[in-house]
Parts: sequence; structure tokens; C-alpha cells
Amino acid sequence: MPSSPLSMRSLSSSLFRSLLFLFMTIFLLYILLFPNPLLRSPVASTSAVPTPAGSGPGATSVRHLLFGIASSARSWPRRRDYLRLWWRPALMRGFVFLDSSVGGGVADDLPPTRVSADASRFPYSFKGGLRSAVRVARIAKELVEAVDGRFAPGDVRWIVLGDDDTVFFPENLAGTLAKYDWERWYYVGGRSEGLQQNMAHSFGMAFGGGGLAISYPLARVLAKVLDSCLVRYAHLYGSDARIFACITELGVGLTYEPGFHQVDLRGDLLGMLSAHPLAPLVSLHHLDNVEPLFPSMNRTMALKHLFEAVNVDPARILQQTVCYDSLKMLTISVSWGYTVQVFEGNQLLPDLLSLQQTFTPWRRNRNIVSGLYIFNTREFPRDPCERPVIFFLESVSFGSDRINSNYSRHVTNDCLQGRRLTKNLQQIRVSSQKLNHEIWQAPRRQCCDVLPSFTDMVLKIDIRKCKDDELIAMQP
Ligand SMILES: *[C@@H]1O[C@H](CO)[C@@H](O)[C@H](O)[C@H]1NC(C)=O
Ligand SMILES: *[C@@H]1O[C@H](CO)[C@@H](O)[C@H](O)[C@H]1NC(C)=O
Repeated sequence: MPSSPLSMRSLSSSLFRSLLFLFMTIFLLYILLFPNPLLRSPVASTSAVPTPAGSGPGATSVRHLLFGIASSARSWPRRRDYLRLWWRPALMRGFVFLDSSVGGGVADDLPPTRVSADASRFPYSFKGGLRSAVRVARIAKELVEAVDGRFAPGDVRWIVLGDDDTVFFPENLAGTLAKYDWERWYYVGGRSEGLQQNMAHSFGMAFGGGGLAISYPLARVLAKVLDSCLVRYAHLYGSDARIFACITELGVGLTYEPGFHQVDLRGDLLGMLSAHPLAPLVSLHHLDNVEPLFPSMNRTMALKHLFEAVNVDPARILQQTVCYDSLKMLTISVSWGYTVQVFEGNQLLPDLLSLQQTFTPWRRNRNIVSGLYIFNTREFPRDPCERPVIFFLESVSFGSDRINSNYSRHVTNDCLQGRRLTKNLQQIRVSSQKLNHEIWQAPRRQCCDVLPSFTDMVLKIDIRKCKDDELIAMQP
């Protein structure tokens, strides 16, 4: 029977209504079960943005680091002056581990000391080595045991191990570690400068004197298993080799950071510190064994002098910037906060990145490998007239927005016949802006300009960000 058009319409409209109801119900259920980010408020959606590595919650800073410094009752009274340079009692946590207690009260500008647990039950069989290596390796374990469970998760993110003669640059250490997600397993450090030392130990080992960092979750597991490793690796030389062996057995490899410096070198570090890699300066070691960093100062004074610049702009310390004066035909290489070298003529940037050999190897023997390094080197000419004119940091100050640093000419041993273009030059004045630690994520060297000057006694330089397609070269 054919239905009337009217009844047909009323049927379809009631069908339409129930279909619409069903559809709305499904839609609402869908919204509730699978929230669409596009429909959420902007506030809600920002919290869903994944936090960058190492920065959740809040970027890693020095207060997230836990230091374990290896010392002994014998060396501590001498070496604690190194710690006074970089230790910030209000910000940092850590302990100095000694082999026996030293007299005297607690110094509030230094970390607290502890006597390491007795390690004499562990074997040590490296001929001619020091069995204190076992005690020192166990600092990694004793450090974790001293604090575990006492801090909220995320409060201690890394343990940092070093010697009492390791000078850390704390903001740069934290800035370097902030690149990595501390909740995962990381073993971060540097190698020895000497090819031979890396061959003898391992290219995959973080050399302990340069300092090394272990993310806290890895450190906790290492603390649990370390003693069993110590039994298996009695034949190794140092504490760092034992940590390396155990971390290797846990399946983790080295994350190499070129700012950690073991300094297995002797003599004058000028060549090394005037061509620092494009990474923040994290540590320096063995400073008792090299010449003072600034001539005409003793070691303590020289380090304090360097820290005057470090404290003003830690991220920029030793960063190398090269500028060209095409009118005067000069190449000027700045290692910020330390030295400026002026070359007559055009020196290409890649050549200036190779290290002038002002230093000598840690061990000098007949073995050809002992004089080889893990970086490029170039000759530092014997004839002073063939060397650049060298200026050392004189003073640094933080102006309203720019940082000014002065460098004065080092005259001892300079070229006596005089130089053609730089004869009268006495001082370099450098202006720069505070460097942000974020640049280390994808670092780019900065550029600089030689500013016009009315005198040939002073050279003024301005360091700035390079333009997009700017090249660091002498412009024709
Ligand atoms: C280093 O030099 C400073 C100032 O010239 C002096 O006060 C200090 O005693 C010297 N230190 C040593 C270890 O000679
Ligand atoms: C650099 O030297 C000049 C001239 O002596 C002086 O005016 C300026 O204040 C110095 N700058 C710093 C940072 O000491």
C-alpha cells in the first residue's frame, strides 16, 4: 500500500531526529574519550608540549649536580685552594673524600669532607700503581649511598666525579649536561690529550682528572654493581678505568664532550687555551704541573685572574673569535678572557684552529707515540719575530649591557727587531655581550669587527653574532 506523502514526511522527520540524537551522542562520547588537541584551550595545550632534553622540570643547573671530589689527608691542605675558586657553598652539593681525617673544623666555603670506607679487602694488582684507585672508584658508590632517598626525584640529576686538582667551571658544566636528558643513562667526559694515554687506557674512557658526569639513574645502578666489578678489574691502573669498565659492562658508552680537560701536558698551555673547541670550557686539571696561566703571576694568582673573566661571562671564557683588518692586513685571534694574538698578514680560520705547540707531552720517552696528540697541532716558532704578538687579559668589567675586556701586550721575549705593522700596539680592547648557554645546542662561532681607531697603540674589537651568510675571512 502506497503511503501518503504526508505520513512519509513525518516518518522521515522522526527518523532524522533520532539519527541526529544518535550522532550527537556518539560525537560527545568521542570528544570525551579522545580529546582533540585542536579543541583545547591554549593553556592546556602548552603543557602537552614535550619538554626539551634535560630541561624538565626546569633546566639543569649547578644545584642539580652532586660532586664527589677525590682527595687525601696529604694533598687536601694544599689543593683546597683550587676548590675555593669554583665551589659555591650556597648552590652546590657534594663531599670531599679523604683516606683519613684531617684536623681543623669545617670550612664553610668548602664542601664537607668524609673519610672513605675501608677498601683494603678489594684486590689491586697493577704493578707500580696506587691501590688508592680502588678507594677513589668507590666514591661513585659512597656518594650515591650518602644521599639516596634524601632528595626529591629530579633534585639530584647528575653525579660529578673529579680530583682535588680538577678546576671545574660550574655554569659551563651544568650548561653542557643540560643538553642531555638526565632521566636516561649517560656517562659524559673527555679524553686525554696524549695519544699514548688513550691507547693505553681506552679512547672510550672518560679520564677522571678532567672530571666526569654520570646521570643519576645510571649512578644508582652503578652503585649497586660496582663492588663486583672491582674484583674483576683488579689489574687496571686507575679509578677512572674501573668506573669505565663497570659502565661498559652495564652497556653504556662515553658521551664525549671536548670541554673536559684532563691536561696530560706540561709547559705552557697558551697554545691549547687560545684555540679552545667550539664547546664551553668545563674543566682544567693538572694545573700544578704546567706553568702559571698568565706570565708574571704565580699559579694561584693566575687562576684567580682567569676567574675574574669567568665570573663575568662563564659561557664565553676561552671562546675563540677571529677578526680581520683588511686595511692594516692584520689577523686578530681572541680567546676571550685570556689572550689575544695578532698576526701580521692573512691567516685562514681553519689554520688558526690548530693548536700552537707551546706545551710538551706528559711523558717524554723514545716512543714516537709519546709526542702525538689527539688534536691538530702547528709549530710555535722559536724565532719570536715569526710568532704572533701576544696580549694577555688585563681587566674585565660588566657595563650596562656590554662586557669590556682589556688585553695588554706581553713584552718579554718579543721580537726585538720590531715589527712593521704592530710595533706600537700596546692594548686590545674587546667589547662583547654576555653569551647565553643555549648556543651550545648547535654552536656557531661568533664574528667580530675591528673598530676605527685614531691611534696605532690601541686596537678596538667588537664581538657579535655573525650575519646569516657571513664568512669569517679577510674580505678583499
Ligand atoms: C702568589 O702571589 C700573591 C700576590 O703576588 C701572593 O700573595 C701569594 O703569597 C703568592 N702565592 C704563592 C704560593 O707564592
Ligand atoms: C680598558 O682600558 C681603558 C684605557 O686605559 C680604560 O678606559 C677602560 O676602562 C679599561 N676597561 C676595562 C674593562 O678595564
